[in-house]
Amino acid sequence: MSQQPAVKPFLEVLSGRRQSVPPVWMMRQAGRYLPEYRELRATAGSFLDLCFNPEWAAEVTLQPIRRFGFDAAIIFSDILVVPHALGRVVRFEAGEGPRLDPLDTPEAIKTLARAADFTKLEPVYEALRRVRAALDPKVTLIGFCGAPWTVATYMVAGRGTPDQAPARLLAYREPDAFARLIDVLVENSIQYLLGQLAAGADALQIFDTWAGVLPPREFARWSVEPTRRIVEGVRAKVPDAKIIGFPRGAGAQLPAYVEATAVDGVSIDWTAEPSLIRERVQNRVAVQGNLDPLALIAGGAALDRAVDDALASYAGGRYIFNLGHGIQPETPIAHVEQMLARVRGHKG
Ligand code: CP3
Repeated sequence: MSQQPAVKPFLEVLSGRRQSVPPVWMMRQAGRYLPEYRELRATAGSFLDLCFNPEWAAEVTLQPIRRFGFDAAIIFSDILVVPHALGRVVRFEAGEGPRLDPLDTPEAIKTLARAADFTKLEPVYEALRRVRAALDPKVTLIGFCGAPWTVATYMVAGRGTPDQAPARLLAYREPDAFARLIDVLVENSIQYLLGQLAAGADALQIFDTWAGVLPPREFARWSVEPTRRIVEGVRAKVPDAKIIGFPRGAGAQLPAYVEATAVDGVSIDWTAEPSLIRERVQNRVAVQGNLDPLALIAGGAALDRAVDDALASYAGGRYIFNLGHGIQPETPIAHVEQMLARVRGHKG
């Protein structure tokens, strides 16, 4: 007798089938707000050592699933493993965020490898295999990469900056060189995402954290078009690949992003305007989001109200409950439990 594959509520929503209780997970759900993460992190050495040890990476991926029973696990890694595999120096300074050797001239960009050394990413694939084997079949496993624009902002500046001005300036001054950098990221991101699918990822998310700093013309060229090419390139090999885009800060440009990229779902930040989302985004694709991570820190009645607002705005359609951006380290675990109880108690 052949066994029916278990239904994954998260994938159901991405396939266009609304769930009466929305599936739920949190961006950055494996991380410093969890004592079990901090404990493993303290013994792991550097952050990249943790990402590239399949046993540890699988363990921290599973920690929030065990504790909270989320509907999706996201593989523990970082968007900057792609520049690392391209041969760039990537370090994470404690409490300061990422540091890379800046790639900020056309000459430097010309020296960039066209193809990543994918053996460097093999530990991520191995971690995916281990997580998939350990995970309840009802739980979706998400693979991810950064969108080329967002990854490029860190590669150009060598660090995060408040408005990613170095990459914006380079894109204006040296559009051909910048386009080469974006092309390299598009091609290698396609291969990386296909590798994650082959290793057991059920769905993919493309993080464009810095999409919102771009004016419309640049947004179309540097955020939308590269993401569209990635989606197309992945689907050329895996036609039914399920892909979520997260163009943070895209605001009124979300409908155009969804139409052009052909993603199956879009993750929205907490500034999104509900009627625009319902009428011009959720009518086409699944919507994921968008609790303000600060409401989750605040807790109490403010948290209840924010959860209820998100449910009232979006749970009538295809909807995955999530935050509008990553959970912050100071968030009390009791507030995550409060949020989950309220989402799961939703009668819809
Ligand atoms: O649980 C998950 O969501 C999976 C793991 C994950 C991490 N980074 C782990 C991480 C994911 C999906 C990311 C994506 C990522 N990384 C993005 C896009 C999403 C977003 O949050 O905007 C970006 C821009 C990065 C780059 C990056 N990595 C920055 C700017 C930082 C420093 C900021 C910080 O929170 O410390 C990181 C480090 C990082 N990536 C940590 C974690 C858990 C913290 C490092 C540590 O624990 O020592």
